[in-house]
Amino acid sequence: MKFLLQVLPLPLKPISCYYNTDLMVTTKWDEKRSRWYCRAVEHSNYPLKAVAVLTPLLKKCDSVIDFGAGCGALSIPIAGKLKRVTAIEPSIWMYRLLLKRLKKAGRKNIKAYNTGWKSHRLQGELHRKLKSHDMVICANLPENVVCNINFLRYITKISTKFIVYIQNAGEWNKFYYKDLYPMLFKKKYVYGGDYKKTCKFLHQHGISANIKIFNYFHDQPFEDFNDALDFWQHRLKIKLTSREGKILADFLKKKLIATRKRFSESRYESIPMGRADRSVGTTGRNNTLIAPFGLRKAVLIWWES
Ligand SMILES: C[S@@+](CC[C@H](N)C(=O)[O-])C[C@H]1O[C@@H](n2cnc3c(N)ncnc32)[C@H](O)[C@@H]1O
Repeated sequence: MKFLLQVLPLPLKPISCYYNTDLMVTTKWDEKRSRWYCRAVEHSNYPLKAVAVLTPLLKKCDSVIDFGAGCGALSIPIAGKLKRVTAIEPSIWMYRLLLKRLKKAGRKNIKAYNTGWKSHRLQGELHRKLKSHDMVICANLPENVVCNINFLRYITKISTKFIVYIQNAGEWNKFYYKDLYPMLFKKKYVYGGDYKKTCKFLHQHGISANIKIFNYFHDQPFEDFNDALDFWQHRLKIKLTSREGKILADFLKKKLIATRKRFSESRYESIPMGRADRSVGTTGRNNTLIAPFGLRKAVLIWWES
């Protein structure tokens, strides 16, 4: 822990936050992954679409806990509809982005905590101190958290009205892996599965949840082409050979587009990457370089606690 304290600079001064390095839960959300995710959130219509489906429930609530809040994709927009929001985020990198975005949004009714769920409890003092809120939201959290019986018991205890899970629905060509795996690794990409596993888990524990599917765009913006290459290297978690690197670069040149528009406002007015590569498009000054992943589906799973 001492080592971590030495390498990690102190976080920005938060608006309203509780930071305790002893409580850090390790997650795969490192600096780069968090930064890319946050850029995608800011470009995406996911917050807008998710809040729209949540609104009928939010109208009956004053307070919400956003578990694994990330950079505040939901905490920030829902705060405008509520008296108080508690955002819980274990990754220090996501947490810092959350604080930065809270400050920018000027929301005074959000408290952020840098902690998370680990094996059987919420780490640190907060586990006992967290007061009940009307709603608990768990959006896009790992399966080992949302399908954990201790976690389910805990959120049931601290929620007075509703529990909401948001997850992927149906299959999508995650980061083009369906195309890339055969080309790079000579094997098929096997998709990890969607919300049906969660519904089965809930059902086993006597919960027949309501579900509502919604569509959204969640494309990935990049600073430039090298940033995009770095994203895939980072996500694939291996050092590509020069042959694999070339296959990836050639593939991405055909897929990525430069655009001034946000979240596929019907269709990107695109400049093909081949041309954008030589223009201002890849510098990030006027255009953004985007990996368009197409229309995706998510599901709101909710029940009364
Ligand atoms: C895909 S992001 C989703 C962020 C946000 N909920 C959203 O919908 O945009 C997943 C988040 O879950 C958080 N997370 C991962 N493991 C967790 C745990 N054990 N307890 C709480 N949050 C966790 C990660 O740090 C990350 O910020």
